[in-house]
Amino acid sequence: MRICASPQRRTSAGCCWYTEESHGNHRQALTAHEILDLVKHDLDRVEREITLESVASVDVVTAIGRYLQAGGGKRLRPILVLLASKLVGAVTDASIRMAAVVEMIHTATLVHDDVIDIAKTRRGRPSSNAMWGNHTCVLAGDWLYMQAFQIALRERNFRVLDLLIALTQLMVEGELLQLESIGKIGVTEADYMELVDRKTASLFSACARLGAMMGGADEATETRLGEFAWNLGIAFQLVDDVLDFTSHEKVLGKPVGSDLREGKITLPLIYVLESAQPGERELVDSVLKDGNYDRVPFSEILALIEQQRGFERVRQRALDFTEKARSIISEFPDSAYQRALAALTDLVTDRDH
Ligand code: IPE
Ligand code: IPE
Ligand code: MG
Ligand code: MG
Repeated sequence: MRICASPQRRTSAGCCWYTEESHGNHRQALTAHEILDLVKHDLDRVEREITLESVASVDVVTAIGRYLQAGGGKRLRPILVLLASKLVGAVTDASIRMAAVVEMIHTATLVHDDVIDIAKTRRGRPSSNAMWGNHTCVLAGDWLYMQAFQIALRERNFRVLDLLIALTQLMVEGELLQLESIGKIGVTEADYMELVDRKTASLFSACARLGAMMGGADEATETRLGEFAWNLGIAFQLVDDVLDFTSHEKVLGKPVGSDLREGKITLPLIYVLESAQPGERELVDSVLKDGNYDRVPFSEILALIEQQRGFERVRQRALDFTEKARSIISEFPDSAYQRALAALTDLVTDRDH
């Protein structure tokens, strides 16, 4: 299996974030290229919309928006909006605008998340906070949120605003809960799942629902597509948390080992800690307290998780969620878009960044 080289990630939005072959064994899985081909034209329109709508009257905000847009990113959330619209009807101008809205909200969360996490790298380049500093980035993130809401407001649709406001509050509450759990070794699987639900799955769900709404779906269809994407989003974050340990900075575009260094206990470690010996627990606690791998090398933590099959167990959990997502999408009539959404579930679990 060929893994796409990471430099390509920065040359073309939405490209090359997948392993070349999807190896799901369900029927007629589409390849990543086939999925992207289905949305490529519309995704270009979304990029133009983002470019057009990211111009602020203060230059630094425009510069930060441009910098992040040019940095690449998988564009998974706008792809979900577009595929959901296509599944239920057609991509409308409103679908394009909503796809831009969700990517701008996602970008705002990343800008704020990197300030909170004191992250130095994002999408293979210095993070925006490393370039412009925290103060400017907090305000630029705020501007991006508000710009996204302003675009959404043009629909004059209260259900859209209801959904986006509830979503943003959930996500911000998720980040606040995550802050409260920093440095705590006793984080449970239930605590962790609540964070993942709020900070990642809720946005995935909103993407599919907005896409369905803009494509003209009824409420029941919209809800079901939201459930599909929610399961996909949970799997996506579980995989992100595995990649944080197992990937390489060059491929991932952000440093590895960051979660534990930042004081976050994620699912691979939660599983290990459930049955860890006191000495093993002490190793994890040392990194949590130190905020670095000086006393306990990263390789030792990796070995501990591997011994306890932590990564396999989390991957299996992720697969349970994508299995659920596939079972939901299989309720929809067969079409290229239905198969693309089904195939997306493999890309999420097989991805390398
Ligand atoms: C990063 O999301 C934040 C998480 C939810 C883990 P992505 O991995 O989709 O980020 P980009 O947009 O591709 O950079
Ligand atoms: C990010 O989760 C979720 C957001 C809402 C930004 P992570 O904290 O795992 O994201 P990365 O790893 O920094 O991209
Ligand atoms: Mg982070
Ligand atoms: Mg992460």
